[in-house]
Amino acid sequence: MTDLYAVMGDPIEHSRSPKIHAAFAKQTQQDMSYEKIHVPLDQFKSAIKKFRTAGGMGLNITLPLKTAAFELCDKLTSRALQAGAVNTIIFHSNYLLGDNTDGIGLVNDLKHKDVTLKNKRILIIGASGAARGVIQPILDESPDVLHIANRTKRKADILYEQFQNITASSLSDCPENFDVVINATSTSLQNTVPEIKKTIFEKNACAYDMVYGDKQTSFQRWAIENGAKKTFDGFGMLVEQAAESFFLWRGVRPSLDVLQV
Ligand code: ATR
Repeated sequence: MTDLYAVMGDPIEHSRSPKIHAAFAKQTQQDMSYEKIHVPLDQFKSAIKKFRTAGGMGLNITLPLKTAAFELCDKLTSRALQAGAVNTIIFHSNYLLGDNTDGIGLVNDLKHKDVTLKNKRILIIGASGAARGVIQPILDESPDVLHIANRTKRKADILYEQFQNITASSLSDCPENFDVVINATSTSLQNTVPEIKKTIFEKNACAYDMVYGDKQTSFQRWAIENGAKKTFDGFGMLVEQAAESFFLWRGVRPSLDVLQV
């Protein structure tokens, strides 16, 4: 019997996850299906129950359900605990295990793009769930500095209190000269950029936007104009977090270079 997987979120129409997982399944010859299911927050619990009753074996969870998934799972991995959010659920016979593969997805994507984090000065702009999920996986790579700058300083301070070895500020008080600048704000979705000084970029800086689209994001364009040497959007992170989820469910690691989705 074909094993059932899905991604739940609201909205979900534009999700590229079904195509990515279909490609992984084909490549690794796994007998599985992966669909997208539109689930408003107030129907999340019943949707999970229904999917489980239908024989579902695992789920990806996307916005705005990642915090609700964190609260709903019976057990959590340390990655999920540190992120405060769940993007992957593994269905065990008598419990739901919640994990988070977003952070490792970003780190693996940077590694595959030959962007080194060790001993480097790293800046994350933004302090919501997207930022929180990637902090510990970045710290595990031993950067020289990991700084969080956010429009609302209090939110950056909360992260500073939770994690060791990071620094935090408002956007206006952000230090300068970072080797890697990660945009974890939602600004590119509005085609704008955060109000932050242009001197954040070191000479050979890499700028990474967690948002992705058909063209370069507004943050990528702004970064190049202001001295970043190379930029990436978040599509690679999406593929990498998917590969990690696939591995958790199926025990096989797909190769990523076959993907053109
Ligand atoms: P959430 O509800 O998860 O906070 P969000 O409102 O889209 O989602 O904001 C995500 C991140 O983008 C936050 O860090 C937010 O900054 P604030 O904490 O100050 O709200 C940041 N953000 C959103 N719009 C922004 C803008 N125009 N300029 C700078 N940062 C912005």
